[in-house]
Amino acid sequence: MIVVNFKACVESLGKKGLTLAKICEKVAQESKKEIVVCPQTPDLCLVSKEVSIPVFSQHIDPVDPGSRTGHITLESVRSYATGTLINHSEKRMKIADIEYLVKKCRNFGLTSIVCTNNIEVSMACSLLTPDYIAIEPPELIGGDISVTSASPEIVEDSVKKIKKINPRVKVLCGAGVKTGKDVKKALELGTEGVLLASGVVKAEDPEKALRDLVSGI
Ligand code: G3P
Repeated sequence: MIVVNFKACVESLGKKGLTLAKICEKVAQESKKEIVVCPQTPDLCLVSKEVSIPVFSQHIDPVDPGSRTGHITLESVRSYATGTLINHSEKRMKIADIEYLVKKCRNFGLTSIVCTNNIEVSMACSLLTPDYIAIEPPELIGGDISVTSASPEIVEDSVKKIKKINPRVKVLCGAGVKTGKDVKKALELGTEGVLLASGVVKAEDPEKALRDLVSGI
């Protein structure tokens, strides 16, 4: 699985985000590989109506609906998103909030991807039984060196330790992933896919970048 996080980039905002999502859909259909998009929250409705590939939220707040202001509830995104990222390094949460959201996702049938920054946090989060853990060393996020080349041992060790604690949890890796070679290496290290952003969102030719990425599966 390739998960493309649109982040809050100008290149993925509004109509540009929709164009990007349609490119992801086209490449997913042609290659018959699974590509998931995480558009910016205000674009979830727009994108989910226009593409048939899975659309995930980038974040959900750990709150129930009610008299709150400015929160993103699971209830508000579930008409558009079939899953969500939780605890991205750029939107960190407390372990109690992660636990609350993983459980809530399970109850509402949403796929949960808990992002983690190191092996210890990955091990702790695997006890919560999210659908996926995505290990992303923060110092490599947005860079040009893939985690699979810079720190392959972190990916491999995370997979081993997560699976030992909870074999039901699937593992992704991310940070600096840009090419099919990086994806191939991620799979060789035991993951079930990658989570990436700039390699597609900021690519000069996102379609070409995606074709190269899926070639690694
Ligand atoms: O959510 C994916 C992200 O944190 C990795 O970003 O730009 O290194 O692919 P990037």
